[in-house]
Amino acid sequence: MVFSERMRKASLEKRSRIVLGLDLKPDLPENLMSKALKILDEVCDEICGIKVNLHLIIPLGFNELKEIVDKAHVHNLQAIADLKLNDISATNVVATKILWDIGFDAVICNPFVGFEEGLGPCIQEAHSKDRGIITLTYMSHKGAVEGYGLDVLKGGVSVKMYDLFIERAVEWNVDGMIVGATNPSIIKYVRARVKDIPIFSPGIFVQGGDPREAVRAGSDYLIVARAIIESNNVKVSAREIKNMTW
Ligand code: XMP
Repeated sequence: MVFSERMRKASLEKRSRIVLGLDLKPDLPENLMSKALKILDEVCDEICGIKVNLHLIIPLGFNELKEIVDKAHVHNLQAIADLKLNDISATNVVATKILWDIGFDAVICNPFVGFEEGLGPCIQEAHSKDRGIITLTYMSHKGAVEGYGLDVLKGGVSVKMYDLFIERAVEWNVDGMIVGATNPSIIKYVRARVKDIPIFSPGIFVQGGDPREAVRAGSDYLIVARAIIESNNVKVSAREIKNMTW
């Protein structure tokens, strides 16, 4: 089963759109491990996936990351690595080989780097192993407009940078697109142009995004970190967001 189908299956089974960002505050590796595993046990019925960012990828090693990903799989959750990968293909392919060996199901990449000798080989390699490539389309933070919102010329016609990233996602046959929940009008625009690539939306609550509006606009999955991780009761917070968006 390919990544997008596994993601859909997990979401339907859990009746949840939440991909939990395990964005723990800096701590000793052993503390990060015990916190991450405990949170996973607590929220596993309220979420459909986890997203692991530099918060854990930098301090933890291969075996520790594997333990977290294995635990996610035991709970029927998909595991996404958030590297916003943006290098030449020789490097991207080495990085993703390590991620696939750890067991990650998908990785977030930056389409700015281009296809040839950029993300192309990485996408082919990922698909040969039923793993997913999720590309940035419009990020959730305020400064996104300075890059993703730039006016660029394409064949003499002015378009937005995110228009190019929408086209790339379709041409490259990627498995997911990131569009910030903070910009529901852009989610709606992307959904109108692309029917069959799932939209993942970060930026819920702490960055100002409303999960219900994002889903109404067309998001399939909501990436949520601090609103759950830093709450007093991770399970209750996750369940509230789950219930308001299912
Ligand atoms: P919060 O605490 O705001 O964290 O729920 C969101 C998580 O998602 C990451 N993030 C993004 N990742 N594209 C991404 O690929 C984005 O536009 C984006 N915005 C936030 C952030 O680093 C954190 O892990």
